[in-house]
Amino acid sequence: MHAVSGPVTPPTAPRRAPRIGIFDSGVGGLTVQRALLAALPHADTLYLGDTARVPYGTKSAETVTQYSLRTARFLLGEGIDLLVVACNTASAVALPALRQALPVPVFGVVEPGARAAAAATRGGRVGVIGTPGTVASGAYQAALQAARPGLEVVARACPLFVPLAEEGWTDPADEVVRGVVRRYLAPLAAAAVDTLVLGCTHYPLLEEAIAAALPGVVLVDSARTVAAEVAALLGEPPGPAWPAGVHRFFVTDAPARFLAVAGRFLGRPVEAAEHVDV
Ligand code: DGL
Repeated sequence: MHAVSGPVTPPTAPRRAPRIGIFDSGVGGLTVQRALLAALPHADTLYLGDTARVPYGTKSAETVTQYSLRTARFLLGEGIDLLVVACNTASAVALPALRQALPVPVFGVVEPGARAAAAATRGGRVGVIGTPGTVASGAYQAALQAARPGLEVVARACPLFVPLAEEGWTDPADEVVRGVVRRYLAPLAAAAVDTLVLGCTHYPLLEEAIAAALPGVVLVDSARTVAAEVAALLGEPPGPAWPAGVHRFFVTDAPARFLAVAGRFLGRPVEAAEHVDV
């Protein structure tokens, strides 16, 4: 064993809570914020939903990257310590550009989700569902192979899941919900996947309906995994008396529609959102 020599930095109490930027194409990223708030109740958060440009899932990688850079720069200007790209589509196509452009740590949701799925699968057959952009990018497929080479991956775009979740049509007993879910997931059932990555911000709201269509399949929601990774980076709050975080919400379109559905995605009321141009 070597003794470690050199200057020792005394631990200093941070002067303020960590400030986390969270960005999504719209309201869906609030499912990721929900997991972050559970893991880091003392952190301040700034959430930006690019509601003027949603959806990202049907747009080209170039366009999503341009939008992502603009929204990320806005959050950087608000003094964030790190950025969580909650949007799966932006994580799939824009992460390298964001990491290059920003001087703060940037977390995406694709790699944590892929790592969790690779660890969960028993038979080595993993399904991925997401927007058309996410599936076409091949990002989950590549991250799964990197996490565990030789995995068999079946990916399927489920574009109608996004409007269903926003409409609140998520009841597994509802015949429309059941029909849409069954139809999209039929190839995954046929391929006998044992693990499924919910590769889109909105899909956790449909978790029950998805579970009913794929009994026995392990559902992986990357929000919890990314929250654990951010918590590991930021560490414990300095003391038990540290106050709860302060949360601000920004949107690029008029806030009314965002506010109408935000509470359902976040699991707690969202009182106000500020309109910004980015
Ligand atoms: N937030 C997007 C995602 O997770 C879904 C909504 C959209 O297409 O913009 O991929």
